[in-house]
Amino acid sequence: MPTNRQLFLQQMAQTSGTPLLLEIEKAEGVFMYGPEGQQYIDLISGIGVSNVGHRHPKVTAAISAQLDKYLHLMVYGEVVQEPQLRLATAMQATLPADKLNSFYFLNSGSEATEAAIKLVRKATGRNEIVTCVNAYHGSSTGALSAGGNEFFKQNYRPLLPGFSHIRYNEPADFKHISCRTAAVFIETIQGEAGIQVPDAGYLEALKAHCEYVGALLVVDEIQAGAGRTGKVWAFQHYDFVPDVLIAAKGMGGGMPIGALITSKALMETFMENPFLGHITTFGGHPLSCVAAAATFDVISDPQFLADVERKAQLFKSLLVHKAIKSIRNKGLMMAAEMESYAVLKPVIDKAIELGVLTDWFLFNDKSMRIAPPLVITDDEIKEACSLIIQAIDTTLGK
Ligand SMILES: Cc1ncc(COP(=O)(O)O)c(C=O)c1O
Repeated sequence: MPTNRQLFLQQMAQTSGTPLLLEIEKAEGVFMYGPEGQQYIDLISGIGVSNVGHRHPKVTAAISAQLDKYLHLMVYGEVVQEPQLRLATAMQATLPADKLNSFYFLNSGSEATEAAIKLVRKATGRNEIVTCVNAYHGSSTGALSAGGNEFFKQNYRPLLPGFSHIRYNEPADFKHISCRTAAVFIETIQGEAGIQVPDAGYLEALKAHCEYVGALLVVDEIQAGAGRTGKVWAFQHYDFVPDVLIAAKGMGGGMPIGALITSKALMETFMENPFLGHITTFGGHPLSCVAAAATFDVISDPQFLADVERKAQLFKSLLVHKAIKSIRNKGLMMAAEMESYAVLKPVIDKAIELGVLTDWFLFNDKSMRIAPPLVITDDEIKEACSLIIQAIDTTLGK
């Protein structure tokens, strides 16, 4: 009999030569458990997904209740489905109702990016889109075209035309955003670049420049949204409102969902010439919508949100070691930078052996990703940090 690991390697599409190969039987809160009872503290939340922890009771209760009603009924946008309305209402309560008041639910972050690319081009009649160097907006062809890392794009050309890239946090590059620009896409906090936080005034100045040239501003909070930074939406740390917001990952509480959110006027772009301007079969699936509505119920609690930065500070106070050069963060979206990948990789491997799951970033392989479920307790943070320090001491020496 082949083992599950052997079957995984034989049958499942492999996307790298070095998969984690952790076998997980159960997950709860911040913990994941292997078949022999091994326990791992999850410090990456399935890459920014399990913000409310694994199997949050409100999320599982909402899914169970919906299971008794219906699963898929009809492609998106035809049938009145209460779970979608419940989610839109819960999200509206977190957003400015005069500007971001129309919700299109999709399957994933990449699909939200794709829909946003179509929307801004059709709404403005312009085809140029500006994004940032080292931006990550997804892996589908349009989203990859928007991405700002050449290594991951080089062998997939030709990609969509019309994309150019500016440096994040460099207002001098706004000169490349012109009256031919349909939109600027920006991650409020850059994730895969290794957690890059905007300088004071940068995003406000970008929004003002977009308005000046008549370009739309799309913020990608697929990773930074859903409470991850200590506000429901990361842009709420700053003094501007985007024209379009795209979300996914953490908003689903562990279920697959994405969202494109904009004004009703802009969303109507999809209604004619052609009608059905963006369509999706499973977008806004009822199980995902009830899970997401329950998630917003959890993360909208001001005390829950206030705790996020406090917990981040606790991490920072405990992750002190000469091998850690700096820690960048906005809430629990954190990166601990080391000398190099050669130094970091054995630490990550050792930490997994000791029972802590961390990772690096797609475009920054010398920084350790720390993005635990937001429900992590102080004691769990202390345990995780002590195991990371132990992993560093064991691999690099004290
Ligand atoms: C900022 C950002 N945008 C888009 C995506 C793509 O989302 P998905 O993997 O759900 O397609 C990701 C995924 O990591 C992301 O971090």
